[in-house]
Amino acid sequence: VTIDFTKMIKWIPTFIDGTIVTIVLALMTVILGCILGLLAILMKRSHIKVLNAISTAYTQVIRGTPMLLQLYIWLYGFPMIGISIPSIPMLGSIYGSREFLTAVVALAINSGAYICELLRGGLDSIDKGQMEAGRSLGFSNLETMRYIIVPQAIRVVLPGLCNEFIMMIKESSIVSVVGVFDIMYTSNIVKASTYSVFEPLIIIAIIYFALTSVLTTIMSLIERKLKVYA
Ligand code: ARG
Repeated sequence: VTIDFTKMIKWIPTFIDGTIVTIVLALMTVILGCILGLLAILMKRSHIKVLNAISTAYTQVIRGTPMLLQLYIWLYGFPMIGISIPSIPMLGSIYGSREFLTAVVALAINSGAYICELLRGGLDSIDKGQMEAGRSLGFSNLETMRYIIVPQAIRVVLPGLCNEFIMMIKESSIVSVVGVFDIMYTSNIVKASTYSVFEPLIIIAIIYFALTSVLTTIMSLIERKLKVYA
């Protein structure tokens, strides 16, 4: 077996396409996940029992089952009972495909459950006395949240959110098994077309590592910035 990376040069555009898909997928997942996580923590903190129960069930079930299984359920299970994510041809053959859109839904719902716990940790880290202090200064519950609790909680939560993004860059690689054209999937394409196995795998490893390294660096910069005030 001869190792020859020059054979990979003409596949660079393919690797780039896959990289963009992975970044878009991870970004959408975390953005939608933040919305879901916020909704879930609000429900968990509400005084309405049913909402508490729904939110708890959501985070427990999602965190207690594999993300790959959840993806299969969304893509192959739910359509059997009439629930399916449609394709949106307008968005193109990759981003508009049923597989990509279903992956966004499955991964975002997964991420939302983890982000909910992250947010809970952030809110819990703020001393209870601060709510009382805010209240005694004449702030309403909501105002104390808005001006005192949340600004501090954001500092605690932000590194975790960056981490979730890094996590989803890596974990989203499972979508390749259902044919979503992400970084992982490009190695299959290149392998099938060139009969090279080693080279494409090493190349995507370098791509993943480069992405996560850049994000880790950004994260520590943000973290350092936030420390100044803490
Ligand atoms: N591989 C794990 C699973 O299947 C990781 C999921 C992590 N998800 C997340 N949003 N951080 O459960």
